[in-house]
Amino acid sequence: MGRLQNKTALISGAASGMGAAEARLFAEQGAQVIVADVDGDGAQSVVQDITDAGGSAIAVHLDVADAASWDKAITRGVKAFGDIDILVNNAGILIMKPVQDTTEEEWDRIFSINAKGVFLGTKAVLDSMKATGAGSIINISSIYGIVGAPSAAAYQATKGAVRLLTKATASDYAPFNIRVNSVHPGVIATAMTDELLADPEVAKDLLGTTIMERPAQPEEVARAVLFLASDEASFMTGSEMVVDGGYTAQ
Ligand SMILES: NC(=O)c1ccc[n+]([C@@H]2O[C@H](COP(=O)([O-])OP(=O)(O)OC[C@H]3O[C@@H](n4cnc5c(N)ncnc54)[C@H](O)[C@@H]3O)[C@@H](O)[C@H]2O)c1
Repeated sequence: MGRLQNKTALISGAASGMGAAEARLFAEQGAQVIVADVDGDGAQSVVQDITDAGGSAIAVHLDVADAASWDKAITRGVKAFGDIDILVNNAGILIMKPVQDTTEEEWDRIFSINAKGVFLGTKAVLDSMKATGAGSIINISSIYGIVGAPSAAAYQATKGAVRLLTKATASDYAPFNIRVNSVHPGVIATAMTDELLADPEVAKDLLGTTIMERPAQPEEVARAVLFLASDEASFMTGSEMVVDGGYTAQ
């Protein structure tokens, strides 16, 4: 019996990186997975992997910055698999710039995806979770939602917003048996960090502050997200799970 047997999970940004790893792992553990992304081909290929392995998944188009897109994605997901038990607000983008170099357009764009996207997703899924009488929402923040670092001002502001939106939502929806937690990955080897890790100077800076001196694979974060998604985390809400190889330990 899988750890997510008979549960339906929607994962945003699941076409690549950590979202894709979570989709595969959740399906392996018995969940029916809604693989939601703006990247339709990527989402379809994750669904193919899952179904080839005997799991259950569908791909849906989702732009997390758009409320109507959330409504459509959830309607399709519920029609396919029934009410949603688990939401992973994972989609995100990175802009590496200090305040003076960040344009207003860039600030608005990253906030619309990384912060407003989490707000809209949460809002869109709550009725479905209330209908099942339980739910687990996992918001992917970052170590950059906890500590500062150079040249990621707007990104850090979005991830700090996600950290506290998590606690606010946890407070409001505990009476409905809906748990809400944030996950704070450190440096993870995905498309988002490809270029950064390929630059020896930047990689040295990023990994020099990671006690374990290596980036993680997306699956190493997915396993933490799986725990929070499952009933094993039944007394966890409003918490911050740090998966950072010790980045914030010093
Ligand atoms: N990689 C890291 O080191 C790292 C560290 C901490 C936190 N994070 C966070 O983890 C999450 C996943 O990142 P990743 O590293 O797997 O990156 P990734 O680039 O591999 O995946 C991000 C996914 O989000 C999707 N996406 C982007 N904008 C979208 C939108 N408007 N609507 C729907 N989907 C959209 C992309 O198509 C992509 O599939 C992000 O929130 C990121 O900020 C990443």
